[in-house]
Amino acid sequence: MELQMNNGNSIPQLGLGVYKVAQDEAVQLMSEAIEVGYRRIDTAALYGNETEVGQGIRESGIDRSEVFVTTKIWNDRQGYDESIRAINDSLGRLDLEYIDLLLIHWPCPAKDLYLETWKAFEKVYEQGLVKNIGVSNFQPNHLERLVVSADIKPVVNQVELHPFFQQNEVRAANEKHGVLTEAWSPLARAGHNKNDVLVRISETLGKTVSQVIIRWHIQTGNLVIPKTVHKSRLIENFDVFDFELSETEMISIASLDSGLRLGPNPDELN
Ligand SMILES: NC(=O)c1ccc[n+]([C@@H]2O[C@H](COP(=O)([O-])OP(=O)(O)OC[C@H]3O[C@@H](n4cnc5c(N)ncnc54)[C@H](OP(=O)(O)O)[C@@H]3O)[C@@H](O)[C@H]2O)c1
Repeated sequence: MELQMNNGNSIPQLGLGVYKVAQDEAVQLMSEAIEVGYRRIDTAALYGNETEVGQGIRESGIDRSEVFVTTKIWNDRQGYDESIRAINDSLGRLDLEYIDLLLIHWPCPAKDLYLETWKAFEKVYEQGLVKNIGVSNFQPNHLERLVVSADIKPVVNQVELHPFFQQNEVRAANEKHGVLTEAWSPLARAGHNKNDVLVRISETLGKTVSQVIIRWHIQTGNLVIPKTVHKSRLIENFDVFDFELSETEMISIASLDSGLRLGPNPDELN
């Protein structure tokens, strides 16, 4: 299942996140994920595994054009010249000729460099080194400011989003600008798998709680990138296209939104 971005390109809706995947696990994990059917990998310079992600994709034997690879520029590499260098560093580590989607990892408002960084993103986009450019952890005011000054709109805003932190304001701001919302920590890091509402729905449908949550993201229209290093869970998390949540089940999950932020507040991180 693919979604269309505001530049006309498409992106697989479900992918694999690789934050905290160790270097010595990442190469093998790429082959396993591709074998299961994943066609999108979400890494970042911060995760320290770009080299192994690139190697694993090459060694899997899949055609480069069949896999969609996202990476992100870390906070200490913002600014025009520095982010050009950082992008080249990521390209060198991935060794995949081009990056499918490049994100500014965090806005870091106190640094106030994200507009400059975006100019570098537009440059590498025009050069074809990066096929799509977007942002991560942008609050509505950051996105608004970026869109006003940008020549090229971001295609994606990747933010923390799960049933306990549904980010309705951020989603509305993204939608207003034609930006797809991507959910990080989409399973809330598997910390709420005993939640009564989710367990009840999972028992009714004969699906696991993780599958119910991933299906909720899909029906909500989010891009979704659950992380796992286990083959059985790669299979489980990908097996979400043969059932649907009813309107009542979607409403029950909507009621779980409780403002539970697991990660940093983007206004405060620098
Ligand atoms: N842009 C950002 O600032 C940002 C921040 C954080 C994350 N991300 C991205 O988002 C991705 C996902 O977020 P995340 O890794 O924080 O959290 P997550 O995907 O919500 O949860 C991952 C955790 O859930 C476990 N898990 C996965 N599938 C499971 C299943 N079917 N049953 C039970 N447990 C399961 C994993 O353990 P096992 O691995 O042991 O299976 C891991 O501990 C990251 O990998 C990264 O690519 C981006």
